[in-house]
Amino acid sequence: MDIDRLETPSLILDAVVMDHNIRRLQSRLRAANVPLRPHLKTSKCVQVARAIAAHGERGIAVSTLREAERFAAAGFRDILYAVVIAPDKLARAAALRAAGTELTLLIDGADIARRAAMAAARHGVELAVLIEVDVDGHRSGVDPAALEPLARLIASSPGLRLRGIASHAGSAYDCRGRDGIARVAERERVLMIGAARLLRDSGLPCEVVSVGSTPTAIAAESFAGITEVRAGVFVFNDLMQAQLGVCAFEDIALGVLCSVIGHHRAGDRLIVDAGWSALSQDSLLEGEARIFGRLCAADGRLLPDLAVTLLNQEHGIVTHLAGRPLAAREFPVGTKLRVLPVHACATASMHDGYQVLEDGVLAERWPRFGGWAP
Ligand SMILES: Cc1ncc(COP(=O)(O)O)c(C=O)c1O
Repeated sequence: MDIDRLETPSLILDAVVMDHNIRRLQSRLRAANVPLRPHLKTSKCVQVARAIAAHGERGIAVSTLREAERFAAAGFRDILYAVVIAPDKLARAAALRAAGTELTLLIDGADIARRAAMAAARHGVELAVLIEVDVDGHRSGVDPAALEPLARLIASSPGLRLRGIASHAGSAYDCRGRDGIARVAERERVLMIGAARLLRDSGLPCEVVSVGSTPTAIAAESFAGITEVRAGVFVFNDLMQAQLGVCAFEDIALGVLCSVIGHHRAGDRLIVDAGWSALSQDSLLEGEARIFGRLCAADGRLLPDLAVTLLNQEHGIVTHLAGRPLAAREFPVGTKLRVLPVHACATASMHDGYQVLEDGVLAERWPRFGGWAP
């Protein structure tokens, strides 16, 4: 089908750009001899997972047990549930484990470790565990100084198997430019290999040293001592990654196709049928302007300086960032445009499937799943 005939708003995935993004990160990590563990929270789509696995990746990371269950049903066995587990999810995790999935859990405290050990005993399974280490005060994770006692507790708990440590240097997202990101990545690496050494020197197991985010995976200068790198957004990329300096606009595989539905009478604004329910509310600052997406023609050609600068639920307001008028004759009602997302995970989560473009032609529709329930 021709893209111009798609009803809008519609989530478009350019499979050629996606494939390029996958190859780019995989060849970078292969050169450094460290495996990629793709984080599938971004796509939540079996076909995207298979496109990554086609290049040889085995393990995956997920952000919900629903993802773990769906990807396990699709044949993925080695799954890291990369959010510290809540007590009420332990029974569900144990069931996945009992069904043969090599599920690994994240833990960052003694209380949840004790509850996990009780759940393992109750369900007659062994639960594999990584300890999340807080490398930059960004979010969850144990203070590196408190790592060893927690590791001892887990290693001595029947039913738990300590596999190693994991971190996510979320502060990479506060950087501007690759040099700053590379410094964050190096700080994370040094901290994590020091933590691994501490455990091993104390006779505790630490076979896995898992780090990662898209910016650090792309900008890090060394992965020495790291056993796997997790990244999610890299598969699609977005304006946030472009602003961080780790991709170009042409590397953004995702776009929301929308239609011009009107023109503001001041002559400086287009109204399109993609509001926050199609784009998400995620935004970034471009100079003084807060933007919710950049505009391309339907064929993916960038329209320089056109951006979505205001959102209602079903309306997006498009303006020219230098204040140029936007004439109705240039963009008549019904014109199809593509919005590049600020944050691919958030925009994708507003949709239930991808319209897949192969060499500019709509090829297939790939479903995606959200939510948490089984
Ligand atoms: C624990 C964990 N690992 C990996 C990632 C992937 O990072 P990115 O979103 O930068 O691709 C995330 C993202 O939030 C994460 O929370």
